[in-house]
Amino acid sequence: MAHSPEVITKIVALRRAVASYRSTHATIALVPTMGALHEGHLSLVRLAQRRADRVIVSIFVNPAQFAPHEDFASYPRTFEADLTALAQIKADIVWMPSDDQMYPQDFATAIVPAGPAAVGLEDAFRPHFFRGVATVVTKLLLQCLPDIAVFGEKDFQQLRVVTQMAKDLDIPTKIIGAPTKRESDGLAMSSRNHYLSPQERAVAPILYRELRRCAGLIAAGQPIDSVLVSGRGVMTQAGFVVDYLEARDALTLKPGEDASAALRLLVAATLGKTRLIDNTAV
Ligand code: PAJ
Repeated sequence: MAHSPEVITKIVALRRAVASYRSTHATIALVPTMGALHEGHLSLVRLAQRRADRVIVSIFVNPAQFAPHEDFASYPRTFEADLTALAQIKADIVWMPSDDQMYPQDFATAIVPAGPAAVGLEDAFRPHFFRGVATVVTKLLLQCLPDIAVFGEKDFQQLRVVTQMAKDLDIPTKIIGAPTKRESDGLAMSSRNHYLSPQERAVAPILYRELRRCAGLIAAGQPIDSVLVSGRGVMTQAGFVVDYLEARDALTLKPGEDASAALRLLVAATLGKTRLIDNTAV
């Protein structure tokens, strides 16, 4: 049976709700999102429910992580559908701060992450992105004071940045990574997939297919550089404009120096007007 979560829009009310959970010794999980929820987001909520007594889902389209030319204004906002989905899976609280709850007029502080946030992947193409993400995630963690927070491997660099940041700042929340949910043809679920035309949607799964092919060849011992050149070639041929296709140390995200380190393949590519990112383990 659906059970509507409590929708909270003010910090004082959120603090009251969190304090009341704490008074019963309930453990709390946070799942930060920008809404336009799909099965990928919902899989994070389910994982959170298995790991904690209460689950807060935040919905906040964070202006600080969009560059002026990016899609902040047109980013899909589907609050009614999001709420129905969260009622169906019985999330406890939906934390939906307004822009001025999150960033009052005199707001003047930012978290500027380095390490995995400065390795020439997303950071090279979206220079202000991780500063915006790190600042809002720090605020969300301090607002909700969760025991755990769940982030998708879909945004692998973001997961590494948030994990490093929580460690560096002694934030007492365990950051948990969750596997990427995919459509049946392999395309990673994303709120931005709605931007794809039917023709582009038919081409889009090539990105993950190529990632897997490249990962297989690298695992079989083929030279990484030539595998990546061929991968970029196939993607370009299919119509993608490739920002990067890289094999990186899965922990540091630096180019692999330690031959024994686990590798992660990461890709960002634009199809028409839509920028897609994906990654896979080698
Ligand atoms: P958003 O893009 O809404 O994603 C919210 C969370 O869902 C992120 O942790 C993301 O990695 C995860 N996610 C997205 N697609 C997924 C999929 N197909 N499978 C599994 N998980 C998936 O990422 C953000 O919002 C923002 O940057 C945020 C962290 C909320 C800060 O504003």
